[in-house]
Amino acid sequence: MSLTHDSFYRRAAGSSLLLAVCDDGQGATVPVLLHWGADLGDLGEDDVAAIVRARTPTVPHSALDQPRWLAALPETVTGFTGTPAVEGVRAGATGPWAPRFDAWSLTHDGHTANLRAADEESGLTVALTVGMDEDGVVMTRSSLTNTGPGDYTVSALRCVLPVGPEATEVLDLTGRWTRERSPQRRPFAQGTWQRSGRHGRTGHDATLVMVAGTPSFGFRTGSVWGVHLAWSGDHVHYAERTPEGESLLGAHELLGPGELVLAPGEAYTTPWLLGSWSGEGLDPMSHRLHAWVRRSARRRPATRPVMLNTWEAAYFDHDLEKLSRLADAGAAVGVERFVLDDAWFKGRRNDYAGLGDWTVDPEVWPQGLHPLVDHVRGLGMEFGLWVEPEMVNLDSDLVREHPDWVLRGRSALPPEWRHQQVLDLQNPAAFSHIRDALGALLHEYDISYLKWDHNRDLVDTSHAGRPAVHGQTRALYALIDDLKGEHPHLEIETCASGGGRVDAGILLRTDRVWPSDTIDALERQHIQRWTTLLVPPELVGTHVGGPEAHTTGRRHRLGFRAATALLGHFGVEWDISVVPAQEREELAGWIATYKQVRELVGSGLLVRGDHPDPALLVTGVVSRDRAEAVYVLATVASSATQTPLPVRLPGLDPDRRYAVERIGPEEGGPLVDMGQSWLGGEPLVLPGSVLGAAGVRLPVLPPESARVLRVSVI
Ligand code: DGJ
Repeated sequence: MSLTHDSFYRRAAGSSLLLAVCDDGQGATVPVLLHWGADLGDLGEDDVAAIVRARTPTVPHSALDQPRWLAALPETVTGFTGTPAVEGVRAGATGPWAPRFDAWSLTHDGHTANLRAADEESGLTVALTVGMDEDGVVMTRSSLTNTGPGDYTVSALRCVLPVGPEATEVLDLTGRWTRERSPQRRPFAQGTWQRSGRHGRTGHDATLVMVAGTPSFGFRTGSVWGVHLAWSGDHVHYAERTPEGESLLGAHELLGPGELVLAPGEAYTTPWLLGSWSGEGLDPMSHRLHAWVRRSARRRPATRPVMLNTWEAAYFDHDLEKLSRLADAGAAVGVERFVLDDAWFKGRRNDYAGLGDWTVDPEVWPQGLHPLVDHVRGLGMEFGLWVEPEMVNLDSDLVREHPDWVLRGRSALPPEWRHQQVLDLQNPAAFSHIRDALGALLHEYDISYLKWDHNRDLVDTSHAGRPAVHGQTRALYALIDDLKGEHPHLEIETCASGGGRVDAGILLRTDRVWPSDTIDALERQHIQRWTTLLVPPELVGTHVGGPEAHTTGRRHRLGFRAATALLGHFGVEWDISVVPAQEREELAGWIATYKQVRELVGSGLLVRGDHPDPALLVTGVVSRDRAEAVYVLATVASSATQTPLPVRLPGLDPDRRYAVERIGPEEGGPLVDMGQSWLGGEPLVLPGSVLGAAGVRLPVLPPESARVLRVSVI
């Protein structure tokens, strides 16, 4: 077996990727991802040829008579027994039902390889792009063109990446409303483990990143390969291990029957599949992805403004005086952006009416939003506004005038969800109506931020007789792109009943995610920890709510609530206009603490400790030069041991000395540290090696409390 064509080898940030076009042993060529993982060092052409030779699959008994490679685009017709990359049906076909691409060409620019191949009998050409960015993130996608006669219906176009055979465990995330991104693990055994999202939006249960790794991999240990599909519609992630010995991770847009039909000459391009490898656990895997998001997404300053959101403070009860008082209280504690949530628009007294009518309610706001916007701007804060552009209530002028703009799959309307239906954004008139309505608001008011919500699944929807999700998702992207094109400084928060739309497709167009509707700090400790598998911490909205969490009824001290919000995009979602002065002072102290660390949060490396006691979560951000760090040590249950186990502070330079001190305001209530410790006294000075490998002891902390440590090199 010899290398017949070109190859592509890329090294970046300690990882590497090797791709070669090989003979398939049956007279055709096949693109093979020979390696994705650790950096293989310098490789010359001879090395690549030798690797191809060394890695050529053996021919076992009772098998095809020639070696069968795991292709970068796996095909059933080659004898691959796993899931094929291309599935589709040609109308009135008499030719082959499954493609076999040949004559692969490969060109590259050093960063990205472009491969092309055709199957004339099937009337298809394919273009496959595989690259690695400077942080070692693999990006791949493919494009299928119908070159044959008649329509070709694409059932699935999958992107795959091979993983090392030592990856024998799979981690993915699941969840529900107010409990997004819960991890689940299983053995990576033979067969296919598939996670599908069929919500018409990313979904609260979306896997976010599907990870395969060595047994018991953690945040700081083990080799891991993770993939994520940058797409906000229906999708599938899967981990597959064949009896022939191949292991791979794959993903694709989940297309409904007949959803994507290519007329002759038309092409379909998949969303990007991102891949991130690490030899030292999930943290470095996330660092690569964070770097990708930070660089690829539209840039916003790394230093995030402190927000105040009105939802849990006012709900549907909008009143200029009350909201102005809230704004005053916000400005006084250090808030920099005031976001008016749901209920400001026409007819919106509750969640039964109003969606679709994006003009200011004249009864509640007789002078429009001007008095509030002016008040907020006068206090030196930015103004933000909540919208839900893809949705309508039947009780709205929009639906009364255009009942045909409501997305439906049959003559009866889909079942309601939060009393609402979906607007058909593929209808050009509906699209321009919404774009113009949002444009008019942005023109009239000094709005620098939109919280963009999406509060229901798409159920029983079609457009022009075909499933609607693909087109609706693309239309959403076009809508945001149009608005951002006209208002380049506008920031957008992605929200979908909390964290139902968190993915890299939306992150390319938005500036922060709302990870969950629960701001119960205990729940948030877990939700935020796993959301940052993909999302950099400064893009995760982290709000301090009132003492009693509205979604769970749990009560927490301000110290725990605020420390939980510290390593994110900090905000307040609480009617602080009515809280006692002492509590407001304490909140102001936490906001000041956030302002001290936010630049670090927005630019540093997130670290998550693998503490042996599950009662303690260690989360930190370390500056890239490892000169400073901040850690939040949070107890999420009662400790398993009477004396807490030493806590290691990950990510520091073992060869430098650091001062460690507790930061954050003193608790307003009775002291909760139980027992004596160094914490609270003089800063502790120790080498990074001791802090990282031996650790320090904390006092006994009650469950659901937190301490914040600042670590600075001396
Ligand atoms: C759901 C969001 O997640 C909440 O934060 C809030 O904006 C409500 N929608 C408003 O209806």
